[in-house]
Amino acid sequence: MQQPLTYRQIKSFVLRQSRLTKAQQLALQEYAQSYIYPFKALPTQDYLQHKPLEITQDIQTPLLEEAAQWHKQVIEIGFGNGDSLLSDCLLEPQTLFFGIEVHLPGVARLIHRSHHSSIQNLKIIRADAQQVLMHLLPSEFFDKVGVFFPDPWHKKKHNKRRIINPKFIENVVKILNSTGILHIATDWEDYANHIHNVLTAEKKLQPVTQEEFSKLCQARAKTAYEKRGLSLNHKIYEFIYRKG
Ligand SMILES: C[S@@+](CC[C@H](N)C(=O)[O-])C[C@H]1O[C@@H](n2cnc3c(N)ncnc32)[C@H](O)[C@@H]1O
Repeated sequence: MQQPLTYRQIKSFVLRQSRLTKAQQLALQEYAQSYIYPFKALPTQDYLQHKPLEITQDIQTPLLEEAAQWHKQVIEIGFGNGDSLLSDCLLEPQTLFFGIEVHLPGVARLIHRSHHSSIQNLKIIRADAQQVLMHLLPSEFFDKVGVFFPDPWHKKKHNKRRIINPKFIENVVKILNSTGILHIATDWEDYANHIHNVLTAEKKLQPVTQEEFSKLCQARAKTAYEKRGLSLNHKIYEFIYRKG
């Protein structure tokens, strides 16, 4: 067993206390085992402390074994309430989906809805994605990585919290397989410019063709933050790059 990871990296999230509905509490108690990865049995009270799970074990070996049964592996980082991830799971039952999120009500909501939709092809990692990518996921593993509407941290003094940064993208490149795709969307123009600059500086990523871009944009289910952005007439900026 490895020691818990310790790090001084700037976090791209702030964990706020928020209430869980009865259904969400029940989902954590009864069904977390089927979805939380790697599962560590915790009394509900511990979940309610809103601490992301400490990952103290090698998750690569069981993950590689599990993945052998599936056609593709896709991961969504910061899935929020998980609605778009759930619809992807339903649309592509042969693909194993992973979701990383720290926000407990979002995790609990996705577990609740997944259970009621009999979802089998979903694993949720409740931890800081920056750490999970850097230390825990296998290299050359994913067919697709999605980061949809990451927190824009729009105040100048908070820009350093943005999850899309050169180090993060370097780690995304590491976990993508040799033809894997990175798909990012935002409704924040200043963040879009920043994302563009970070992605064009990463020489191991190339933009996909216009045809593929349109196809993948259309295939993506709308997320909760995207719907909110659209209701405020925000423009949506999408970035789709392929490793290679
Ligand atoms: C603005 S919300 C967008 C949620 C969802 N993708 C959507 O479009 O509705 C960003 C989400 O990313 C999560 N997040 C931010 N940094 C994270 C990190 N380092 N690890 C895991 N989740 C993170 C936050 O908890 C939040 O739920």
